[in-house]
Amino acid sequence: MDINGRYFKSYLERQERLKDQSNAENAKKQHSKGKLTAHERIDLLFDNDSFEEIDAYVTPENQKYSFGKIKKSYGDGVIAGHGKVNGRLVFAYAQDFTVMGGSLGVVHAEKIAKIQEMALKMGAPIIGLIDSGGARIQEGIASLAGYATIFHNNIQSSGVIPQLSVIMGPAAGGAVYSPVLTDFTFMTNHTSYMFVTGPNVVKEVLNEEVSSDELGGAEVHARKSGVANMIYEDEENTILGLKKFLSYLPSNNVENPPVVIEEHQKPLTIDSLRDIVPDDPNKPYDVKEVIDQIVDCNSFFEVSEHYAANLVVGFARLNGHTIGIIANQPKVLAGVLDINSSMKGARFIRFCDAFNIPILTLEDVPGFLPGMDQEHMGIIKHGAKMLFAYSEATVPKITVILRKSYGGAYIVMNSKNLGGDFNFAWPTAEIAVMGPDGAVAILYRKELAEAEDPDALKKDLVRKYRDDVANPFIADERGYIDEVIDPATTRKKLITAFEALQNKWTKTPSRKHGNIPL
Ligand code: HXC
Repeated sequence: MDINGRYFKSYLERQERLKDQSNAENAKKQHSKGKLTAHERIDLLFDNDSFEEIDAYVTPENQKYSFGKIKKSYGDGVIAGHGKVNGRLVFAYAQDFTVMGGSLGVVHAEKIAKIQEMALKMGAPIIGLIDSGGARIQEGIASLAGYATIFHNNIQSSGVIPQLSVIMGPAAGGAVYSPVLTDFTFMTNHTSYMFVTGPNVVKEVLNEEVSSDELGGAEVHARKSGVANMIYEDEENTILGLKKFLSYLPSNNVENPPVVIEEHQKPLTIDSLRDIVPDDPNKPYDVKEVIDQIVDCNSFFEVSEHYAANLVVGFARLNGHTIGIIANQPKVLAGVLDINSSMKGARFIRFCDAFNIPILTLEDVPGFLPGMDQEHMGIIKHGAKMLFAYSEATVPKITVILRKSYGGAYIVMNSKNLGGDFNFAWPTAEIAVMGPDGAVAILYRKELAEAEDPDALKKDLVRKYRDDVANPFIADERGYIDEVIDPATTRKKLITAFEALQNKWTKTPSRKHGNIPL
């Protein structure tokens, strides 16, 4: 083809027209709201010059059944393509709010569906950068059908490739369901919000005044609903966080996560681990200190930090290998298990299991949270989610009991009989059916009632209970714990144990799927 010829000229003109579309005025509109443009977001996400766009020239269909005006634009309000993130293949789409509010019409939906199908076929992660007013009103039912296709694809890809969503503006109506069907959702504070029905509908139906931020801002979803797993103060940091997060994940369910060996390796024995758990069993401490000391330097990436903080979950590296950590947090509600923490833990465990990420459990839990509220809201079925998730997971699973391990919580937190591969305990561990106070009150009710000095008797019995029952040595002697270990050696023990489990293979009964209590 002659590059000065007519066809080449048309090819170049077309490119110019596409460029003109992302004009300064549109960029200004986005920037004035503290947001980046769809192109700027894509540029930040992908390695230099690695992004390849597809379907840049598609335009919305002239529909026989449309209502109102449809803005003719190249790309129909969404950029889609693939490129490299930290050198690895990733697929992505970014909605452009400046084109009909990033709303989803037929062609827009087809583009997203196409990129989803490509990501699945290639076994590469997919990222959705969402900035959308939901189903395009003008295109009616065809837009709803478009969402259905996207959701169906999300569900088909679930557990096969990592799917991540980043909310960078509104995610209204249909736009909210794709993110929650994906594995993790990131949000930017103050500029992003998610709701099924917006403030106007709330006002109309319930006569309640509420702002978008109050209804579905990043803080609300990070702290209250648990819909947002990670939040950041601006878009740049959101994308940087997302890129770091990706480095912990494999590209798909048949690969392992990348191994990242540190230049300056931590020692294997860490004496300060002996000083974290206080002598007083009722004194709180921060389990994140334990995590930080055990794992490779600064490698802990917490997930859902602000939701159900009584359970800490996140990814880290141990000797360069990604692990998923689930840890009770004695600093928050004494680390008790409740409905929200059970759901948070169960979902995280299932992600790790789907993507070959070994699980480390750090246990210090007094039990399930008692009370009418929890019982009436279904702690029985929600607590069972965690039980189910741990038990069905076939990845390597190790538990270290740091301190309390009582009752149902002992069983749930990856106990030996539930399928724990290695179960260790620190000498500070207290393992029993229930805590000393409760046990003594039940077994010695009559004696305590008749005693001359009930407090002294109780103190005596509690001490005896700790010596005779609630310690790790009995569990060790009976094989319910594989070894009581010196806390200082925990990192070394874990590296060796996970290495031994590298080729773990288990056979599960043939079935369509289990029936997790939802
Ligand atoms: C078509 C839309 C649109 C939509 C916004 N726009 N949402 N066009 N379909 N769903 C257009 C506006 O007409 C406007 O066009 C431009 O996008 C910018 O919108 P503004 O309202 O000016 O912006 P802003 O004030 O920032 O408000 C953003 C917004 C608001 C909060 C998203 O636009 C809004 O409430 N939109 C509707 C949200 C919604 O209810 N979606 C649900 C759809 S139903 P111009 O030409 O003026 O620039 C749905 C079904 C699935 O999704 C439900 C499953 C649960």
